This record gives sequence, C-alpha cells and structure tokens, in this order.
Amino acid sequence: MPEPIQDTVPDRNLALELVRVTEYAALAAARWTGRGDKLAADQAAVDAMRLMLGSIQMDGTVVIGEGEKDEAPMLYNGERIGDGSPPEVDIAVDPLEGTTLCAKGMSRALAVIALSERGTMFDPGPIVYMEKIAGSRRIAHLLDLDRPLGETMELVAKEKGTGVEDVTVIMLDRPDRHSEAVEDVRRVGGRIRFIEHGDVSAALDAVDENSTIDLLWGIGGTPEGVISAAAIKCVGGQLLGRLWPRDETERSAAADGGYDVTEILDVERLVSGEDVFFSATGVTDGDVLSGVSYDAEGAETESLVTRSRSNTTRRIKARHDRAKLRELSGQRAG
Ligand code: FBP
Repeated sequence: MPEPIQDTVPDRNLALELVRVTEYAALAAARWTGRGDKLAADQAAVDAMRLMLGSIQMDGTVVIGEGEKDEAPMLYNGERIGDGSPPEVDIAVDPLEGTTLCAKGMSRALAVIALSERGTMFDPGPIVYMEKIAGSRRIAHLLDLDRPLGETMELVAKEKGTGVEDVTVIMLDRPDRHSEAVEDVRRVGGRIRFIEHGDVSAALDAVDENSTIDLLWGIGGTPEGVISAAAIKCVGGQLLGRLWPRDETERSAAADGGYDVTEILDVERLVSGEDVFFSATGVTDGDVLSGVSYDAEGAETESLVTRSRSNTTRRIKARHDRAKLRELSGQRAG
C-alpha cells in the first residue's frame, strides 16, 4: 500500500491568498512605470494593496507599513487589517519596493507582503537603516558583519571551490556608506554588482543557490531587512542585520526605545514566527521575477509565493483580464 501523503487535513495557506494582494498592487503600480512620478506609483500600489487585503479573513496588525498614521492614511504602522477573525498576525507591507525603480522604468521593483503570528515580527522603531549581509544555506555559517567583506568573500570562494574573482556581492550603490567595503572587495579582487535600489529582491537573489549572486551586503532600509528575513525564513538561507543609526539623535532614540544597536539580528530574531507567509510580485523585470507585461487581452504577472512551515515555494504566473485592469485604472482616477 502506498503511504498516504499526510493524515491530517491541510490547513489554510495564507500565502495563496496574499498573492492576489501583491498581484493587484503590482498591476496598479506598473501603470506608472517610467512616468517619473514615484509618489503616484506608490500611492496606486498602496490603494490596490489595501483594497485587496480587505478580502482576507484575519486579525492583522501592520508592524511594517507606510509610516506613522499622520503621514500615511493607509497601511500605517499599527493599522488593523482584516475582518478580525483568526488568525492573529503581524503584517509587513511594501506595496512598491523600489519606488524610483518603477518611476524610472528600471529593473527589480516589486510589490511585497509578509505575515507571521502576532508579536513575532521585529519592530524597526525609529531606526531607518540596517547593515545587512545575506547568503544561501551553503555559506550561511560564513556570514559575519564584523569581518572585512573581502575576507568573507575569500572564505565563500574557498567554500565553493572557486577563486575570489568568481564571487559576486550585490550592494546598493551608496558611496557615502559603502566606500570602505567597496575598496576592501576590490583589494581582494572580488566582483561587485551595484544596484540603485531594491535590496529585498537583491536578498532573494543572494540566497538562491542557482543565481549568479553569492552575497548581499550593505546598509539599506530596516523595514526591507525584516521583509527580506521573512522571505528567507521561507525559502532558506540567512541574513544578519545590525541597526545603523545615522546620528546621535537616532542613536539616543534607539536607546530610549530599548533597542541594542550592537545586537546581531538573524532571520529567527527578525521574524520569530513558526508560520510565516510571503508573497512578492514583479512590477518591473528583475533577475528574480519578471515584471508586469501587457498585451491586447490584458496583463501577465509573475509572483513568488512561499510559506515557512512547509517550505513550499511557488512561482505563480497569472493572466489578468483587461476588464480588471480597467477597474484598477478607474480606482486610480477616482
Ligand atoms: P523605496 O521603495 O522606498 O523607494 O526604497 C527602496 C530602497 O532602495 C530599499 O530597497 C533599500 O533598502 C532602501 O531604499 C535604501 O535606502 P536609501 O535609498 O535611502 O539608501
């Protein structure tokens, strides 16, 4: 007799509902591709995401959203989402990760959402930036925020049986924050792939064993660090973060809020929930996901949908009818 696949009824996979949320946000934002208006692109994504989120049965609190209530009328930090029925969850949203990328029609803009059990997502508080390093399962034990980056790349090369000149780190192009690390990588002869924006998609690239990127390093957004950690918890790999206060005011705000800016925050610390759900849909073409494409009948989207408990990762290509796109344009006009 063949073994039954499992003897309990599978529970609800929220990730499969979240994909509709990120698809909708991506479809709305993609209409603003290359139009030079990042605020309008972001607003379109926020409106669409908020609308679709209302269709999900849950008792959600936005932990990572569009900012404080007085500056963000929708998806603000602390906003309650859903109909109040179980499960109780923390929500992290980035309706348009890479607003400038979308506005300039550049690659790797995404619509992203992550959910985990209530009280299990790290709240970034007042600290805007985080130093991050991420890589696949195979090199997770080599990640270190205190070791010079060049040296870590040499260790990665050894682990992979290649030379350091074959190892590639992806990082935001931020000479003001990254020049020392860049020099260090160049000194050892490693390769750098600079990006203008979008370190969530870069983190997804870095943890993928089959990609041409070995590591992500850099000082980028703290919310993006938590969202990346949620994704990595589902797809595998590791990310280490450390809060990076920009000045003394931020440093003392962190201390007042009870944050230890020396603490190394790994994926488990950033998202400690056991059941984490993540969905991302491409807005513009990137290495991880294709962006929204249009034809006479409608549009096509590509999404990455994953859950930590099962570690099941799906790539979902969806076709969207023209009528739905018209609905979205109507909302934008309204
Ligand atoms: P937006 O989506 O808010 O435009 O920002 C995207 C982003 O590039 C993130 O991917 C990254 O973590 C952060 O901004 C870096 O911040 P900064 O541009 O201030 O260096």
